Amino acid sequence: MPNVLVLPGDGIGLEITPEAVKVLEAVLKDHPQSLKFEYGLIGGAAIDEVGKALPDATLEAAQAADAILLGSVGGPKWDTLPAPQRPELGGLLAIRKALGLFANIRPVKMLPMLVDASTLKTEVVKNVDLVVLRELTGGLYFGEKGRGTNPRSAFDNLIYTEEEIQRIVELGFQTAMKRRKKLCSVDKANVLESSRFWREITLEVAKNYPEVELTHMYVDNAAMQLVRWPEQFDVIVTENMFGDILTDLASMLMGSIGMISSASLNGSKGLYEPAHGSAPDIAGKNIANPLATILSGALMLRYSFGLEEEAQKIERAVEQVLQEGYRTADLAKPGDKVLGTREMGDAVVKALK
Ligand code: IPM
Ligand code: MG
Repeated sequence: MPNVLVLPGDGIGLEITPEAVKVLEAVLKDHPQSLKFEYGLIGGAAIDEVGKALPDATLEAAQAADAILLGSVGGPKWDTLPAPQRPELGGLLAIRKALGLFANIRPVKMLPMLVDASTLKTEVVKNVDLVVLRELTGGLYFGEKGRGTNPRSAFDNLIYTEEEIQRIVELGFQTAMKRRKKLCSVDKANVLESSRFWREITLEVAKNYPEVELTHMYVDNAAMQLVRWPEQFDVIVTENMFGDILTDLASMLMGSIGMISSASLNGSKGLYEPAHGSAPDIAGKNIANPLATILSGALMLRYSFGLEEEAQKIERAVEQVLQEGYRTADLAKPGDKVLGTREMGDAVVKALK
């Protein structure tokens, strides 16, 4: 039986991961394929318990697991630690790097019943259906970083190897081939050498995909175009930090950051997590939106276990609950039926039946 390692992490991670597990268990209840869930520590919770944001035991369990479900890491309690020990760098980034999870897939699709939840006009967001492929183990996040004295200074290096660009761009073309055959590579080639190199490699990879319409866009323009006319995008592929920023922005095209799921893959292994953070301000109140994590669970069934039908069942159940007018606080308008975190999880389970 395949093993899923659950790493709730910190903040709302503790509340949203149980809802995703609940939904996964429910969808596989009468299915020949079942999953075994194991639990581990990551982030601040791991620092408190064993003194390290990514304990060796967690990494070993992650390496042995067939898939990983992660909540979120970080919080004010650990913000004063030296950067390499903090939950983000020492926990989340460390596990992404150690498992080689270079491809972060973040689907951005507007569900018709949520158009009003977006701060953007209905006609702008109603047909949004795009996916962002964020490079996840290189670029600005992982280059050499450091401090200097005289003058007092700091630096972060943005470096990419040919292979790192090739593999993510390749996946971008493959994803586009299964969709509307449009790939937009986002860079800052008017300023950055690493971006000019990214573009060069992208053009080389493009030769193998003549059917895909490839465009290049500067990241500042991409941010603007995403709110001006998001429908123009099918697949976006981009550098680690550009992808981090653009996906928070793009989450509002779906009404709330509480809706954006993600899969981080390296071919054989997958880690699934909502793209939002640990939201310390609302943690422990049973008000966080568990849907991004529940939808990340659907991505796990799709990408790690080939259970496409069950993945769609979860996606349809989420849509049904929203269609019935149920919302978590982040999505709610006056008059909506507001549910807590656990109640939203229960509602999705019920809708599966
Ligand atoms: C994300 C998050 C993380 C990132 C943080 C928590 C380190 O913002 O997954 O987008 O920057 O990658
Ligand atoms: Mg982010």
